Formats: sequence, structure tokens, C-alpha cells
Amino acid sequence: MRAMSIARPDFARIGILGGGQLGRMMMLAGIPLGFEFGVLTPSPDDPAAPLANHHEWGGLDDEASIRRLVSWADVTTYEIEHINTRALQAAESEGALILPRPGLLATINDKLAQKRALQRAGIPVPDFSEQLPGYPAVQKLRRGGYDGRGVQILRDERDEPLPGASYYEELVGFERELAVIVARSTRGETATYPVVEMDFDAEANICARVIAPARIEPDDEARAREIALVAVEALDGVGVIAVELFLTDSGRILVNEIAPRPHNSGHLTIEACETSQFEQHLRAITGLPLGSTTLRAAAVMVNVLGGAGAVGRPRLPAMGRLLGRAGVHLHWYGKTEVRPNRKMGHVTVLADDLEVALATAQQILSETRVEGEVFGGEPSTGGADGR
Ligand SMILES: Nc1ncnc2c1ncn2[C@@H]1O[C@H](COP(=O)(O)OP(=O)(O)OP(=O)(O)O)[C@@H](O)[C@H]1O
Ligand SMILES: [Mg+2]
Repeated sequence: MRAMSIARPDFARIGILGGGQLGRMMMLAGIPLGFEFGVLTPSPDDPAAPLANHHEWGGLDDEASIRRLVSWADVTTYEIEHINTRALQAAESEGALILPRPGLLATINDKLAQKRALQRAGIPVPDFSEQLPGYPAVQKLRRGGYDGRGVQILRDERDEPLPGASYYEELVGFERELAVIVARSTRGETATYPVVEMDFDAEANICARVIAPARIEPDDEARAREIALVAVEALDGVGVIAVELFLTDSGRILVNEIAPRPHNSGHLTIEACETSQFEQHLRAITGLPLGSTTLRAAAVMVNVLGGAGAVGRPRLPAMGRLLGRAGVHLHWYGKTEVRPNRKMGHVTVLADDLEVALATAQQILSETRVEGEVFGGEPSTGGADGR
């Protein structure tokens, strides 16, 4: 660790593996606190790159680049799970501070190992097995899945399974999908955020809408927060860790999966909570006191996705109209190319009344499409559902 200086946190330099929007939002939260950021990412066009003071250009598998970033930083974290975990474990064994711990990442990256670890800790999870137990079942690739891409429902023998090492879960009948952002600091301090509802766009297989507070009973709220916290403690998570849950038709709360980083379900905390998930993550990994997680207003977040058929340089024709509405906060990630269903930004709507926020968010979803402009060519139209 470098020498402390006055008016600066003890850990001044934060290394982030991955230069996407999550890294960008970590930096946006950390700059007011005086942190300096270094990033490992392939391209200067990546969302977090313009905000960093220090850059390592490379792939997230590249051990030499990872080593260079880790030695620049006082503490290193990550905004994506698909990274070279072995390189991180090696650097940690030589004394580098990497949080959440690389061992946790290794467990989480194998979804079957993750489920086993949760089950061993007594956390309620859907039934699962290594062999197909019969139909219906949910097949999950053990590694590499994201945005639902490694998940397949098998209703009967006619459904084609995904290729690759997999395991199977019971098909859970759920009333709602919920998420809880948990923070746990290097000092052992913990905090949970209010439970949110996650709504999926079945076609894009992407979380389309996040709603806070979740429309659930106070008892379910308390149980969900408790289960999420116990799960993070059992896995020894340090930092901000997102816990995705099912509230089942029979009223059970089950953990679906864990993400060892700030999460799409926590974006609304930027405006809706006293302390955003991104600031909280930085506080947690640098040993600062955690901030209040109190919800200051009802909030609905919608992802701004590339429209069907949209390619090239992104354009957001609805931007003026969006920003003209009360309570609307736009976060544009600065990606240089749009693709269908690519996450280009998000919008958080705040209101005193959740129904008002939901209605405004619905309107934004129907009006907001990201179009693409091919260099020297015609603009693409964006799609019918071009969020
Ligand atoms: N056992 C299950 N029963 C019913 N539905 C499920 C089950 N597991 C997953 N799903 C559905 O599939 C979605 C994606 O699954 P999961 O979260 O495990 O995958 P993922 O690829 O990591 O997704 P993401 O990156 O979007 O979080 C879940 O949000 C849920 O809607
Ligand atoms: Mg998920």
C-alpha cells in the first residue's frame, strides 16, 4: 500500500478489471470521494476508459495485463465475472488485495459449484442435480452464461438441450423475481438494500425493468434481505454482491444466483437511495464506513436497449423528450456501437408514488429506442420494441 496522504482515503488507487458500464458507474461514484481509477479493458472506446487515470489495454484473460493493473492499484476489483480467475488467485497469493476474493469468483463462475456452496450453507435454492431428473427442467450451462444465454427450459424430450457442461434445476413457479444488493466491508460491516422486483423481457432475455420498493409483504421483504445477507456472509463476500431471488407461488424465497459485483438491479440506487450501490462497493472494499441504504423515493428503472436491426453509431432521438419529464434520470453509457438488445444506457424514474413512476416508465419504454447510424450510410430504423 502506498503512503497515506491527508484528505485522501487510505486506498487511493482502485483497479477495475473490465471497462463496461459498471466500471464507468463505479468511477462516477468514486471520483467525488477522491479515488483514482485504473482499468484493464480492450479498447479506448469502452465505457469506463475515458474516466480512468491509468489504463492497461488488453483482454480480461491476459495474465500480464492483470498483473500490471494489480500492481498499480492499492485494491483491485472487477465489474465482470468472465476474467482470468487463476491469475487473480496467483496475484492474491503473493499479497495483492483483490475484492471480492478471487476464490469466491471461482466458485460463482461455476454455477453448479455456486449452487452447492449455497446449499451447504443452508441457503434455500431450487432443487438441482447434475443429471437430467426428468421433465420439465431448467438446463443451465455451468460456465460462461449471461443475460439468460446459458439457460434453457426443457419441457419434454423434443426440446433441444444446449451444448456444453451443464446441470439441471427444477422449473420454479414464481410469483416474482426479486433482487437484494448486499454490502459487506473489509471491516465486517454489512448492509442490505430494499428489495427490488426484476421484470424480464422474455424475448430479449434481459432484465427490462426494476421496481423499488418491491410490491411484496413486509415479512417477505425481511426474509429476502435476511437470506441474501446470510448467503453473502456464508460465501465470505466482501464488496457489493447482488443476490437474485425467486418468490415462489407457494410463498418460498429461493436464491437463484449471485453476482459478485454491482448489478443491473441496483442501478436505481444511484438516485433512489442515500448511497448508491457503486459508492457502497468502493466504501466496502476500502474499509470506509458503509452508507445508508434508505430508499428516498419510489423508483422504476428501465434499460435502454439497442433496437431490433440497429447497428452502427448509436442515436437516441427521444433524449430531449426524456429529459423534459419530471423525475427522469438518464444514464448513457457512451458505447460507440449499437447492436440489437445491447444495453446502451438506463433510465431511472423517481416519484412519490410508485404507480406514477410505473406509468412514466411505461411511456418511456414505448417511446425510447436506440437507433443506429452506419458511417456514410442510411440510419437504421430501430425496431418495434427498440428499447
Ligand atoms: N430454476 C428456474 N426455474 C424457473 N425459471 C428460471 C430458473 N432459473 C432461471 N430461470 C429464469 O431464467 C432467467 C435467467 O436465469 P439465470 O439468472 O440463472 O441466468 P443468467 O444467464 O445468469 O441471467 P442474467 O445474466 O440475466 O442474470 C432467470 O432470471 C429466470 O427468469
Ligand atoms: Mg440471472
